[in-house]
Formats: sequence, C-alpha cells, structure tokens
Amino acid sequence: MGGYASLFNIGSQSFFEVPKDFPAEFDSLLRAPDLEIGPASYEDIAEIYRLENEIEGDDGADLVTLTARWRMFGAGFLTARQDGCLVGYIESCLWDRRLPSFEAQPDCFSSQHRIGAETLYIIFIGVAADCRRRGVASSLLAAISWVGRCYGARRLQAVSRDHVMPLYEAADFLPVTAMPDFLPEPAVNFMLMEHSLL
Ligand SMILES: CC(C)(COP(=O)(O)OP(=O)(O)OC[C@H]1O[C@@H](n2cnc3c(N)ncnc32)[C@H](O)[C@@H]1OP(=O)(O)O)[C@@H](O)C(=O)NCCC(=O)NCCS
Repeated sequence: MGGYASLFNIGSQSFFEVPKDFPAEFDSLLRAPDLEIGPASYEDIAEIYRLENEIEGDDGADLVTLTARWRMFGAGFLTARQDGCLVGYIESCLWDRRLPSFEAQPDCFSSQHRIGAETLYIIFIGVAADCRRRGVASSLLAAISWVGRCYGARRLQAVSRDHVMPLYEAADFLPVTAMPDFLPEPAVNFMLMEHSLL
C-alpha cells in the first residue's frame, strides 16, 4: 500500500487526526489487489496531467489547475499504480456545499475547501483506458472514503455523467437530483450522487 506517512508532508493546511497509514484490513477492500494507492506527490502531477489529457482531451484540467488542487488538499488527491505505472487518480475537496447549485468557476474548489467540512466532494476520478473494468476506480473510491472518514466527513458527493452512474451505484452512492446545467456538454446528463460515511 502506498505510504500514507508522506501525507504529513503534504500541503500547508492544518492536520486533522489522519493516521499514518491505511488500516491493515484496507488491502482486502481493494478490488484490484496488486494496486498501490496513496497520496499523489508533487512529482506525480506531470504524469497525472498526461493521463488527464488522454482521458479528457482539451476539456481536461491543465497543469496549473492540477497543482493547485494538490496544494489545496493533498490528502484527498490519490493515485493508483500498478507495477509502478499510473493507472488512475482521484481528486477531492472538503466543503459545506449542498449542491445542486454550482458555479463552474476555476477556483470554486479552493475557495470553498475547508478542513472540518462535512462533505468530501469528488472533483474527478479517471482511469487509463486500457486499465478499466478491473476495479481501479472502485478501489480509489474505497480509499477516498477512508480519507473522508479520517477528516470527519459525513458523506461523499460526486456529480456523475450519466454513463458513469453505474460506477457510483456499484459503490453504493444514491442519486440525489439531476444537474442538467452542471457542465456545457451536449447530450450528457449529470446527476448528483451521494454516499453516506456514517
Ligand atoms: C468511469 C471510470 C473512472 C471507471 O473506472 P474503472 O476502473 O473502469 O471502474 P471499475 O472497474 O472500478 O468499475 C466498478 C464497477 O462500476 C461499474 N462500471 C464501471 N465502468 C462502467 C461502464 N463503462 N459501464 C458500465 N458499468 C461500469 C461496473 O459495475 C463495475 O463493476 P464490474 O466491472 O464488475 O461490472 C473510467 O471509465 C474512466 O476513467 N472514464 C473516463 C473519465 C470519467 O468519465 N470520469 C468520471 C468523471 S464524472
């Protein structure tokens, strides 16, 4: 399991009773047992950017945005590696927002991120195209649930494209409400999904 000890060195924000490592039983929760999951390092960001670009193309976050998200909440920015290769990642923030109102401003996450907030919001989850349907994303969701609990979050929240809903449903998220204007993507429906951590 990737070293959570490095969490102590990440970011500038105050620390919130996060244990040094994933619990021993965590490995058994992973659907892909040979995965290494842990917090992203600064050195990982260029590689994450390349994968983001492969997955999202021109709509993907740029290097500056990814770096800002990592600085904002490094503990909630996890990578998944297999044999050393980056195969997936998840970005998140903690906030008090109760969607569905959402302003898609570039800094909306960093301006609202707050350690101690009750909701861990999943900004993005992505898996390399040739590594899908092997449990990488569901393992990342299990890992981020653990991070959320460590930070006292009561729920996970994500806004899902319609074709990604099966992933969240498989991880016991429930649909809350449609968010038709979430992003300007024609012919894509968005749904607010939540998963209780209580
Ligand atoms: C969505 C995504 C992250 C899923 O990653 P993944 O590693 O393939 O997901 P998992 O293997 O953990 O899937 C777990 C379960 O979710 C469901 N699921 C995942 N992807 C699915 C798909 N394309 N179609 C239907 N069900 C799917 C299945 O129930 C799956 O279990 P199964 O393989 O035993 O049937 C990946 O397809 C991706 O990166 N897509 C592009 C980026 C994106 O849209 N990200 C979400 C931003 S809203």
